[in-house]
Amino acid sequence: MGFVQRTRACGELRAAHAGQQVSLNGWAHKVRDLGGVVFIDLRDRTGLVQLTLDPANLPNLNNLRSETCLSITGEVRVRAEETKNPKMATGDVEIIVTSYSILGPSKPLPFPISDEDQMSSVNEELRIKHRYLDLRRPVMYRRMAVRAAALRRIRAGLDKQGFLEVETPIITKSTPEGARDYLVPYRLEPGLWYALPQSPQQYKQLLMVAGIERYYQIAKCFRDESSRADRQPEFTQLDLEMSFVTQEDILKVAEGLMIEVINGLIDEFDLDKDKVEPFERITYDEAMYFYGCDKPDLRFGLRLFDLTQAVAGTEFGVFKSTIESGGVIRGVRYPGGAKLSRKEVGIVEEFCKELGAKGMASIAVETPAADAAADAFVSTKGLTVRGGIAKFFTHAELEAILATAEAEAGDLLCFIADNYAASNSVLYRLRLEIGNRCELRNPRSLKYCWVLDFPLVEWDADSGTWSPSHHPFTMPKEEDLIYLDTDPGRIRADCYDMVVNGMECASGSIRIHRSDIQSRIFTLLGIDEKTQQERFGHILEAFAYGAPPHGGIAPGIDRLVMSLTDTDNIREVIAFPKTGSGYDPMMDAPSTIDAQQWAELGLRLSK
Ligand code: AMO
Ligand code: AMP
Repeated sequence: MGFVQRTRACGELRAAHAGQQVSLNGWAHKVRDLGGVVFIDLRDRTGLVQLTLDPANLPNLNNLRSETCLSITGEVRVRAEETKNPKMATGDVEIIVTSYSILGPSKPLPFPISDEDQMSSVNEELRIKHRYLDLRRPVMYRRMAVRAAALRRIRAGLDKQGFLEVETPIITKSTPEGARDYLVPYRLEPGLWYALPQSPQQYKQLLMVAGIERYYQIAKCFRDESSRADRQPEFTQLDLEMSFVTQEDILKVAEGLMIEVINGLIDEFDLDKDKVEPFERITYDEAMYFYGCDKPDLRFGLRLFDLTQAVAGTEFGVFKSTIESGGVIRGVRYPGGAKLSRKEVGIVEEFCKELGAKGMASIAVETPAADAAADAFVSTKGLTVRGGIAKFFTHAELEAILATAEAEAGDLLCFIADNYAASNSVLYRLRLEIGNRCELRNPRSLKYCWVLDFPLVEWDADSGTWSPSHHPFTMPKEEDLIYLDTDPGRIRADCYDMVVNGMECASGSIRIHRSDIQSRIFTLLGIDEKTQQERFGHILEAFAYGAPPHGGIAPGIDRLVMSLTDTDNIREVIAFPKTGSGYDPMMDAPSTIDAQQWAELGLRLSK
């Protein structure tokens, strides 16, 4: 079917083009029929331009619904001064249309595409069901463009450093990363199954045994786990592995690449972000102690503090009993919180309880009133306290509390008494909540850090076994190997996470490259020798043929694009995402299969 092809893109037209004849192809973004004249904003991927159509000269204009696909020809004119639109890049001009043809008519739309402001009220499942329409919105196009440019820059950056892009299989054997596998039945022998890779972890290590030395891949990973705001069952990693390297080498390559890629994207897309600076470094133990989590948001301070020493002799019941039972008293400052009403403090306490706290105690910090009693408490820094549990403490204890908390006038000091892990899990989120309330989480800032020295394994009380903090291929620190049989929880690993603004965005490690150590770690993880051979025999054998020391990392591409485009929902940066329950409403997947497929695969549904 013939049609008039574009001579220009919509978004490029300016006053300088006045008088030119142009042909444009695109979609009717917004249609305004004023009776005597019809205005259409025509949209293509470069932007919008206003068309002016005269019903006296052009037939059937009432067929031009929103999102009709059009070809038009007309003349570029400078608009009258009072009708110029400074909000549009092309707002100085309009196209006086002389002819048009409909390339693709449009039904009434399931949701408006022209109005970004209204999108938040559109049901997300409806958007995903009609993703081909949702992606027409300029903001979605821009996210896809940032994503594509990120991949282009990553490839260019790694190519410069001699990395080889290698594709690894999707239909393969289980590669554990802590999630459930997606399984694919093997038709030729019912009862046998492939698994989709949770990551290319084993293949990339085998590529190091194979002598590739520097590998990367933009890799699809599959994990059957419940979706979250930053988690999809199918997602993309920049997967990377290097031989003959130390942890330091990998940190340097990954950090250098990320800074180069991100700062390049900030310039290319004029993103509303400050340039990324060299990453801070923090150990896992420090992260847990100061931020209550292994993915700290370092855009603001408000480090957690530990009062256990300062109030060791207290008679205040809640603290006393917690300390006696081996717990800790930890807390966080809430700048400006001293002015909260009793009811408002109650809301903060409720917030903590919903996170599992038994309660939240607090003290307001102020400067002393002029008419304060002569014997009222005033700290060496000239501060006094009010409300909450202040009355339960001696002046010496109050002095120690203020010093430990590094309190300032106007603070509400918030305390959680519990065991270390439980107090952390509450204070981690309370600190972020305070950061939000005080507007300390600057959206312009991308604060990257490395979290180092993770423990190799964690005790899993449910299964009664040690489970890997990362994955079972992580190398224990050599000096900690002595704890392997006696105190595995003490073993630290050559393992690192990259974190931005409180989100884990990459994870990696130096790997085990010796069969004997790998086998001992599998044993520690409760995998007996027979199972080791069945599940991992290939890798144990490969390590017996001159395996080089190696390590790597895998940044999540989806999360990278999220952080750059100010989206807190991973689905917004994926062209065709799944809903929270792993459903694709557009393709209607998962779906049933026909009887012949059941039979061929030797499958039957058990009742
Ligand atoms: P890990 O499992 O930590 O490590 O994943 C690395 C990075 O991948 C991203 N990511 C996800 N993104 C979206 N949805 C998910 N469900 C999801 N799961 C992970 C995150 C995460 O930091 N093989 C190791 C890497 C290595 O050791 O080299 C691995 O997969 O950004
Ligand atoms: P109670 O003695 O239970 O009335 O508690 C006195 C104050 O201590 C209240 O503000 C409680 O919310 C608070 N509180 C109770 N349990 C804890 C806890 N585990 N950690 C911190 N504060 C608590």
